[in-house]
Amino acid sequence: MRSKSVFMMVLLFVGLTISCNMNRKVVRSSTVNDEAVQGEPQGGMYSNDTRISLQLNPMQKQHQLHNMRSHLEAVQRIISLLSKEDYMTASQTAYTQLGSTTEMRMMCASFGDKGFEQMGLAFHESADAMSEVFKERNSTKALDALSTTLRHCVQCHATYRQ
Ligand code: HEC
Repeated sequence: MRSKSVFMMVLLFVGLTISCNMNRKVVRSSTVNDEAVQGEPQGGMYSNDTRISLQLNPMQKQHQLHNMRSHLEAVQRIISLLSKEDYMTASQTAYTQLGSTTEMRMMCASFGDKGFEQMGLAFHESADAMSEVFKERNSTKALDALSTTLRHCVQCHATYRQ
């Protein structure tokens, strides 16, 4: 687990270096939005995606989506654990998979967008709080905390795209 994390960090920083040396136009041409409006820069059916682009390079994109899919998986696991009233494992999962670990903090900072970093950190801190709430073994409070964390997912997705 640890060596895998280190490997991912190395990949990420290699990705960042490549991104600095690449022509932005080439990097961006693979986003869905850009493809949709190709040859029609002023408009088009799918051009109303006004979310801020992080302008990630292909390697960063893959790494970020992988990370996101892990987040979704963690949420699924947490819901399943809560349904079995296994609050302690749910608490551990919330902290280790979604909490503000060093790995997550570095990840949020690595995309070079302050607003994104702040939203990411607020999300991970909400997961820390959720992890604490689970220890109270109260299902109403637990669901409320989960909803608060999910609100951070929704908010970031509404604001940023790759
Ligand atoms: C700080 C911002 C941020 C937060 C917080 C965040 N995401 Fe994301 N997520 C993104 C971005 C950016 C994308 C790429 C969306 C795009 O380009 O359209 C993404 C994509 C995804 C995807 C698509 C993965 C794929 O393979 O296509 C999933 C699933 C996802 N996020 C789940 C989650 C879940 C679940 C949470 C909360 C538990 C979460 N995200 C929190 C920024 C965030």
